[in-house]
Amino acid sequence: MSNSIPKILVTRKMPDVVNKKLMSNFTVSLNESDKLFTEVELQRALKEADGILCSVTERFTKKILNTTDRKTKIIANFGVGLDHIDLKSAKSKSIVVTNTPGVLTDATADLAIYLILAATRKAYLSEKKLRDGEWTGFSAVEDLGVSLKGKTLGIIGMGRIGKATARRANMALGMKVVYFNRSYIGSIDFPARPAQSIGHVMRESDIVSIHLPGDKGNHGLINEEQISLMKDSAFFINTSRGEVVDQKALIEALSTRRIAGGGLDVFENEPNIPQSLIDLDNVTLLPHIGSATKEVRDEMGLLAVENLISYFGDKDCPSRVV
Ligand code: 8YV
Repeated sequence: MSNSIPKILVTRKMPDVVNKKLMSNFTVSLNESDKLFTEVELQRALKEADGILCSVTERFTKKILNTTDRKTKIIANFGVGLDHIDLKSAKSKSIVVTNTPGVLTDATADLAIYLILAATRKAYLSEKKLRDGEWTGFSAVEDLGVSLKGKTLGIIGMGRIGKATARRANMALGMKVVYFNRSYIGSIDFPARPAQSIGHVMRESDIVSIHLPGDKGNHGLINEEQISLMKDSAFFINTSRGEVVDQKALIEALSTRRIAGGGLDVFENEPNIPQSLIDLDNVTLLPHIGSATKEVRDEMGLLAVENLISYFGDKDCPSRVV
């Protein structure tokens, strides 16, 4: 490795503490305007920077990674999900890719619980009623939600965030947990029952919560048929990636009240949300804020920088994926 200071290009505006750490280790190009990169700008970045610190908003497709005269040797992603980066192409081109697992687990699990509570207590409908001046006072029978104690939470994808969500639901809310995970999960330190298939989880659960990575192989995995297995009284929660669900089928199930309601933090083709989803009052919608706390965003950025420092210092990256 040469002795010159590596140049790092940062695609989005980052927390101050992250910029500071970057600037004390590298020559840095920041994006203080936070304007999204075009394809051409991304290609230019690959030609000019030794390393890129990116986020979910930059799509490193095969075409982009094929940029000729590429200088970039490492892409350090700010976030755990890597579905926006063509990892196969990165690998074939010996581009190192890192992510930020662990640091956002609790925040995302907290948000999944928030959505479970919001959905089951009709939070959006009730708040809307109040803000619209339609609340006429106490009622013993109107707009009732459902209690969570003793109900079954079905987790699809029992990775770090799936487990953290299940643990909260079991320990704090008194819920039973059933889960499906493609690979065998060893020790779980709270009561949780494995199911044979996604279908079993869909059928048995009062609340289904999705925690699957957004890899291409998972796209549309939760399809119309799977959704049709849910109880009429069940709720659907997603804090992972919108693409793993057939969004049209989900909107249909929500709008026809085939299922009771939902809570979504992620969508197909973000930030575009279909009007048919916006119009529904039985679903809480959030703009992909699973990891959006001050503390966690600092930690995510610092871990991304740690990966860059390790790479350019010829050390093992703390969270290298490719
Ligand atoms: C991030 C996320 O906000 O980590 C992830 O995969 O979905 C979010 O928590 C996003 O990826 C930022 O790049």
